[in-house]
Amino acid sequence: MEISLEDDGSRSSPNFEYKGAHLAFRDRWKETDDTMCRHSMSFHLHHSLRSEFFASYLYLLEKVPLGKKTHTKVQPHAVKVKLYPVTCEYIKGEKQFYYRAQKFYEDVPASVEGMMGDFVEISNVDLEGSRQFLKRFVGPGKAGTQCALDCGSGIGRVTKGVLLPVFEKMEMADMMEHFLLHAHEEYLGDDADRIETYYCYNLQNFTPPKNKYDVIWMQWVACHLTDKDLMNFLIRCKKSLRPNGVIIIKDNMARQGCKLDPIDSSISRHLDIMRNIIAMAGLEVLAVERQEGFPEIIMPVWMIAMK
Ligand SMILES: C[S@@+](CC[C@H](N)C(=O)[O-])C[C@H]1O[C@@H](n2cnc3c(N)ncnc32)[C@H](O)[C@@H]1O
Repeated sequence: MEISLEDDGSRSSPNFEYKGAHLAFRDRWKETDDTMCRHSMSFHLHHSLRSEFFASYLYLLEKVPLGKKTHTKVQPHAVKVKLYPVTCEYIKGEKQFYYRAQKFYEDVPASVEGMMGDFVEISNVDLEGSRQFLKRFVGPGKAGTQCALDCGSGIGRVTKGVLLPVFEKMEMADMMEHFLLHAHEEYLGDDADRIETYYCYNLQNFTPPKNKYDVIWMQWVACHLTDKDLMNFLIRCKKSLRPNGVIIIKDNMARQGCKLDPIDSSISRHLDIMRNIIAMAGLEVLAVERQEGFPEIIMPVWMIAMK
């Protein structure tokens, strides 16, 4: 079945059985005044309505792959990537997917606990898994060790535990100033001298310098970008790699389809969906490996190296 997107982002199709519900939901929250709701019980109602809505919308979209035909470098099979409009809801000119993440991280403490959410105990296993994975791509005939970029670095947990022991210089990029300040003033200690630049940017608006990095690491932050922004960011990252350089994404990958977390405003994608986005960015996957040793209740975490 072919489904087309109308100018306002809504979908039109014959027999679109969910359309009534979709429009009903849209009418309800379109008019909602955020400030008023924040101080009343209706805020909570508003929240659950939204999450319900997103969950069913995602489910629906899952059934209907969206085509994208503009990118020329893509193999035909990759064209079926699902670029979900669900992450593109605007209220009062703000893209809510990003606005909510911003609000969420404002209240997150600048600490390892803050970076790991409820799972601080897996931090060391995670770092060890990353060190082993990184080894495969760095060394003679592979990526150099001059400079790496940690994207969505937070306080620099990965910078400190994985990258600084390998690279002479580092750069860090994160949207939250208080994380970067804590990294510089406290968390990284004397190693802070080897951080060349802290970029306080949203990755969706950030263009890293060209031909600069041997490795670009993105951990638990690809999930905070929309499909389209992630694809475009990867395209920019590719241009900022040095010869033999690699990009590594480490993130939660949904067991099926996509899963939106309305609390921190992140979206976990199935590995195949992530692979499609990577292909659409014109990158080649070098290796894919699941992080071992995490409790079963945690969503699977995968590492993907690409160039
Ligand atoms: C779960 S923390 C992970 C931090 C770090 N990568 C680690 O593994 O310890 C997610 C980080 O991504 C940052 N972040 C989220 N959305 C972002 C965006 N759109 N642009 C830049 N940074 C973002 C947050 O500020 C936060 O520091």
